[in-house]
Amino acid sequence: MIKRAIIVANWKMNPASLKDAGKLFDSIAKSISNVKKTEVVICPPFIYLERLKKFSKKISLGAQDAFWADAGAFTGEISGEMLYDIGVKYVILGHSERRALGESNIDVNKKVKAAFSSGLRPILCVGESVRDDSHSYFNLVKIQLHECLNGVSKNSISKVIIAYEPVWAISSTINRRDATSTDCQEMAIFIRKILFDKFGSESQKVRVIYGGSANEKDAKDFLSSGGVDGLLVGRASLDAKKFVEIIKIAENLVK
Ligand code: PGA
Repeated sequence: MIKRAIIVANWKMNPASLKDAGKLFDSIAKSISNVKKTEVVICPPFIYLERLKKFSKKISLGAQDAFWADAGAFTGEISGEMLYDIGVKYVILGHSERRALGESNIDVNKKVKAAFSSGLRPILCVGESVRDDSHSYFNLVKIQLHECLNGVSKNSISKVIIAYEPVWAISSTINRRDATSTDCQEMAIFIRKILFDKFGSESQKVRVIYGGSANEKDAKDFLSSGGVDGLLVGRASLDAKKFVEIIKIAENLVK
């Protein structure tokens, strides 16, 4: 059973046109009118955000990144202030596909703090690229959490969502393999312990979610046995039917 379920779609750089984005968003929105207890967030490419806003009040919007400065000479960047201004609520930060392009924990930390000051809620992605027998991946996730959340106050921490995304299970990873709900549960417990040690009891309000090829077939297992409050869904969120199925699975598991 989950208390505050949240299902987040990460559309990445899809779909290819505003028309297709509108269709996808609309068919998801129409199919979830009975969903009352599960928060649904869609994170489309930046340029679709404002146009999708008008389709549904039920779905919150998230961006896939936001820069660390409010304004200025930063060609190509978009600030949290700009996103907040058009009604965006969440922002994915530190996704492994951005880390692979060179983003460091220090960059992510600056973006987390900027997101807070502009009123956005960060969905902070952490997760190891490989697992080894020495279990050093726990330490890697610990470092990611400490460095990316450095300087975040105890008062703000409850607004963060931590997305555990083992890179080896994400659909874009070559030779990916499935993570199990046990892999997920172990790490979710570990993440909650790190947060508790760093932020005390306020951290108990933080939602921890799982991402890594989550789909309509394994959603129930991750949500009921993975120790998480929701899912960050990439590929399966581009198919309205599959994504709606995932949302309904979550809805049925909420207390
Ligand atoms: P996936 O993507 O579900 O396609 O693996 C998840 C993510 O990368 O956020």
